[in-house]
Amino acid sequence: MDLGIDGDVALVTASSAGLGRASAESLAAEGANVVICGRSEERLSAAEAAIEPLAGDALAVEADITEADDVEALVEATVEEFGGLDHLVTSAGGVPPGGFVDMTDEDWYAAYDTLVMSAVRTIRAARPHLEASDAGTITCITSTSVREVIDDLLLSNAVRRGVIGLVKSLSREFAPDVRVNAVLPGAHETSRVEELIEAALDRGEFDTYDEGLASWSDGIPLDRIGDPRELGDAVAFLASDRASFVTGVSLPVDGGRLRS
Ligand SMILES: NC(=O)c1ccc[n+]([C@@H]2O[C@H](COP(=O)([O-])OP(=O)(O)OC[C@H]3O[C@@H](n4cnc5c(N)ncnc54)[C@H](OP(=O)(O)O)[C@@H]3O)[C@@H](O)[C@H]2O)c1
Repeated sequence: MDLGIDGDVALVTASSAGLGRASAESLAAEGANVVICGRSEERLSAAEAAIEPLAGDALAVEADITEADDVEALVEATVEEFGGLDHLVTSAGGVPPGGFVDMTDEDWYAAYDTLVMSAVRTIRAARPHLEASDAGTITCITSTSVREVIDDLLLSNAVRRGVIGLVKSLSREFAPDVRVNAVLPGAHETSRVEELIEAALDRGEFDTYDEGLASWSDGIPLDRIGDPRELGDAVAFLASDRASFVTGVSLPVDGGRLRS
């Protein structure tokens, strides 16, 4: 299936690794010009080198998406390089695990900055360019935690829901010019998950990495953890012409784990 995004311009935030990078790779594989960002120059360069051969063209920008000035500069750099913007994909860093008694006011505000304000500010800066495009889309990467709470992830459970309210509202406010959707990843084997498995190994919870990995498949009807590319392909589809009548949805990509 031709997704019809060859030559389009896509900006993916928090995309030097993990689900953001996988989304950038899927968009690039369909011929889009892709802009990626992250804080570590080393990770960014590695991601840019992997994406460049796939993409129409690729640009890597060092930016912290919790900093308002960085976000504005990121969108400006995109438009300066490619002359416009057709697709915005927002990803973010993770927030600390823990329950209610573990969290201070600072933790709550930091989670809000990381998960909600990063998306708000990027959308604010990108909106005029997306509206000027004849194919403008926004896709926000969140988590299945917005639909079914995950134990010991209070901040994700509580704060990410703001992004879903934003997505649903903007799908109406920005229509018919810009389509706005969310994807809800379940477990995918990214660097973040690899680190969590390594930490569990260090704590003696598992004997081998594979045993740790298998534990992430518990409760998933498809009986395995996702490949980040499987999330990236869903993002590319929602951004594409093939999803031209789809807006305001929250699409789980979780191997069937959600029961709701
Ligand atoms: N993996 C899963 O199974 C899963 C499931 C559900 C939800 N999620 C959520 O999806 C998001 C991405 O997770 P992931 O597993 O892909 O994580 P990851 O493998 O750790 O990748 C995170 C990416 O975000 C960048 N990043 C982090 N903070 C940033 C900031 N302030 N500004 C700019 N870039 C930043 C990182 O680069 P730098 O550190 O160099 O900046 C890296 O490129 C997280 O919010 C996570 O909670 C993940």
